[in-house]
Amino acid sequence: MIKVTFIEHNGTVRSVEVADGTSLMEAAVGNLIPGIDGDCGGCCACATCHLFIEPEWLDKLVPAEDMEKSLLELAECVGPGSRLGCQIKLSQSLDGIVARTPLGQH
Ligand code: FES
Repeated sequence: MIKVTFIEHNGTVRSVEVADGTSLMEAAVGNLIPGIDGDCGGCCACATCHLFIEPEWLDKLVPAEDMEKSLLELAECVGPGSRLGCQIKLSQSLDGIVARTPLGQH
């Protein structure tokens, strides 16, 4: 299992454990973490899984592909560490990852 910690917009910290191969979006939606919608189901078409990866984890991620970069331009409040959660597949190398979630996606 992979441990993921979400820091919500209001500062609430929640840690969950999910199976290897789960996406960060699925980890959030499946555990009812507020602020992540995942409307397209993870096919990189909606940007409602936008979240912020804590700086110390950014280098461990596979870089965003062009589709993700394009969609991030549509997301609100994009900043350092912005990624689409559905494009981040969790694996042992990401065990313990920390992500901040936005207030909402709309
Ligand atoms: S869930 Fe739609 S882009 Fe990530």
